[in-house]
Amino acid sequence: MTCCGWSECALEVGRLEGISGEAIMKALLLSKYRQLEVAEVPMPTMEAGEVLIRVGACGICGSDVHGYDGSSGRRIPPIVMGHEAAGRIADVGAGVTGLAEGDRVTFDSTIYCGECGYCKRGDVNLCDHRQVLGVSCGDYSRAGAFAEFVAVPARVVYKLPASVSFAEASMLEAVAVAIHAVSLAEITEESRALVVGAGTIGVLILQALQAAGCRQVFVSDVDSSRLKLAKDLGAEVLSANEDAVARVLQRTGGVGVDVAMEAVGRNETVNAAIASVRKGGTVVLVGNISQETTLPLQRVVTRQIRLQGSCASAGEYPQAIALMASGAIRVKPLITAIAPLGEGPQWFERLYAREPNLLKVVLTPGPVS
Ligand SMILES: NC(=O)c1ccc[n+]([C@@H]2O[C@H](COP(=O)([O-])OP(=O)(O)OC[C@H]3O[C@@H](n4cnc5c(N)ncnc54)[C@H](O)[C@@H]3O)[C@@H](O)[C@H]2O)c1
Ligand SMILES: [Zn+2]
Ligand SMILES: [Zn+2]
Repeated sequence: MTCCGWSECALEVGRLEGISGEAIMKALLLSKYRQLEVAEVPMPTMEAGEVLIRVGACGICGSDVHGYDGSSGRRIPPIVMGHEAAGRIADVGAGVTGLAEGDRVTFDSTIYCGECGYCKRGDVNLCDHRQVLGVSCGDYSRAGAFAEFVAVPARVVYKLPASVSFAEASMLEAVAVAIHAVSLAEITEESRALVVGAGTIGVLILQALQAAGCRQVFVSDVDSSRLKLAKDLGAEVLSANEDAVARVLQRTGGVGVDVAMEAVGRNETVNAAIASVRKGGTVVLVGNISQETTLPLQRVVTRQIRLQGSCASAGEYPQAIALMASGAIRVKPLITAIAPLGEGPQWFERLYAREPNLLKVVLTPGPVS
């Protein structure tokens, strides 16, 4: 059987985990950095305890775009990327209960073991054996969902209500990230918050803060089109090109916000978040573009500011599905395009080129509803 036609393709020599066997399917294969092609690859093998999902929709994540050119080191070719997906169960493996062929589902992009100390405590995002679907780094390689089919453990699968489309459901991973981050901020009805960055994650954090009852939410960004979206969703927006920190202080009577949610991950934005909170306030760090930033140590210590990291999600999927189904969290305004898998290479290039006004692009590998 041939795969992508590339003689050294690891799919053919069987190095990619989760893919083997005779039947073939179409997948968007990163065969080398900045080279994506729709290829015929072997169908995933479904192990005991797993389900096989016919993928209806899979979103392109910023981390896929950062992995695409090799800069993050987390998408070593050859790899089928894609971890923000939804679809219909095509088959269930031995020992799986509560799920059946035909069920509409989504799944956690973090494949946790369910057995280590962190998993047993419910901190599945911190699992010692954590693998992310569609990631290939030095430690592991796990085929993702830019493909007609993907196999995942049943323990990470969640059923979808009929009212939520697959394209919307492909955003549930990011919604769960936002809800998890907000859950670490201890929001009350008295809280005032600043979200730094109005990208996909920032705009979902805005909505998760509103759903948590937060009294007032400011959002800052350098991009006016992103700020318009945040404003349409009910935020008080501040241009980060001007002095957003000064304006947060001005609008909070010189006190600062109770909580700053950092959703960019750069030195200047982490420092803006720290400078915006009141004494005793909390900064939740979600953005992680930079490996390191500076820390205004004396400010953090003498104002007793809590710095709280937030990683992925840990059990927030049911809440994310409920908030999406009720309309409390809206993702349609974030979806720029829904396109067939075959258009994946062009969309990756457009996202990579940072074309203006692009937010979430969702690829649809198959004709499923
Ligand atoms: N911790 C987690 O679990 C987790 C999960 C997903 C994403 N992330 C991280 O969250 C961050 C945001 O992800 P995203 O998908 O929303 O990215 P994105 O690129 O869509 O959004 C980033 C936003 O930051 C804005 N920005 C850039 N410089 C700024 C500045 N100086 N001031 C204010 N805004 C500025 C950009 O205009 C953009 O709107 C990334 O660092 C990503 O890696 C973390
Ligand atoms: Zn992602
Ligand atoms: Zn574990």
